[in-house]
Amino acid sequence: MEILKKLPMPDGMTKAEIVDLLLHEEYGYLPEAPQSVVAEVVGEEKNFCAGKATLRHLKLHTKNSFGDFSFPVFYACPNEKNEPVPCFIHINFRNLVPDRYQPTEELIDAGFAVLTVFYKDISSDDGDFTNGLAGVVYPNGKRTDTQCGKIGLWAWAAMRVMDYAQTLPEIDGGKISVVGHSRLGKTALLTGMLDERFFCAISNDSGCSGAALSRENDGETIAKIYEVFPFWFCERYAKYANQEDGMPFDQHYLIAANYPHRVYVASAEGDAWACPKNEYLSCVAASSFYEKQGKPGFVHPPRIAEVGECFHEGWIAYHKRAGTHYLSRDDWKFYIDYLNQHL
Ligand code: GCU
Repeated sequence: MEILKKLPMPDGMTKAEIVDLLLHEEYGYLPEAPQSVVAEVVGEEKNFCAGKATLRHLKLHTKNSFGDFSFPVFYACPNEKNEPVPCFIHINFRNLVPDRYQPTEELIDAGFAVLTVFYKDISSDDGDFTNGLAGVVYPNGKRTDTQCGKIGLWAWAAMRVMDYAQTLPEIDGGKISVVGHSRLGKTALLTGMLDERFFCAISNDSGCSGAALSRENDGETIAKIYEVFPFWFCERYAKYANQEDGMPFDQHYLIAANYPHRVYVASAEGDAWACPKNEYLSCVAASSFYEKQGKPGFVHPPRIAEVGECFHEGWIAYHKRAGTHYLSRDDWKFYIDYLNQHL
């Protein structure tokens, strides 16, 4: 816990200042919100999951000042409901429903709807900025050093799914959470920071440049992530490689800037690359920002979490499960328990 004394703290800053700092230095500025988002129903299965749900294949058409962009979304919603249901927006690695990272029937059984966006339908996961949304936003495939990388583009799409979710009468617009795993957990936290309509942003094993503090990270470092995945970030982020100690921020700023809604960080014991210790300490360090705004922050014991523990009392929540890097049913169970406790 010694590291906590060495961290810069966002407590004297406004949320807008934190957001600006993180966009300018790490993720880059996103394209502006669209003028309109219209959904087209491409297919429908009314008897999905033994008749418990309806699954729709949608295409979301967005009209923007920089150009139009359309992308597919899957939407599964319980058929039986007495009132508007809570919902997940899941930014996923595959365009499958269900998927090993998305146990859709269990989510339906728990009373949740789920909207899924496949990240590569937005733009490829590489340095090519000429395809998908990147090709529309960056017509010659070139960015300035503060324009966003792929994480920002994926987050932009998740917010468009939120725009659409807000129009659905069967969904409770105040009970929508965004969730993603790993690089898409980083994306979920950025989405949560930028979009105050969410109830909770959920980061599963997001690690370096996601939930985990960059200072004294035993797993992935900024130098390592930027060497392999520079296109996830804005170009200015390069200058922090091996310069963590002098950074004017750390990843707890991203957790803190999820205020005014809730944020959930999950770690897996066997996921050393994501540095579970630093994911936990980031929650500890972000707590005072929430507390200053009059919300309970991270309610936790004065030590590092043990395997199997969850801390679900505060507006910052955390669990550490056994096993490796994965978005498992065990993680979803923890999320559903937390949300049911507070929704
Ligand atoms: C790599 C990368 C991580 C990332 C992970 C993932 O391991 O180094 O930062 O979280 O991929 O997205 O699966």
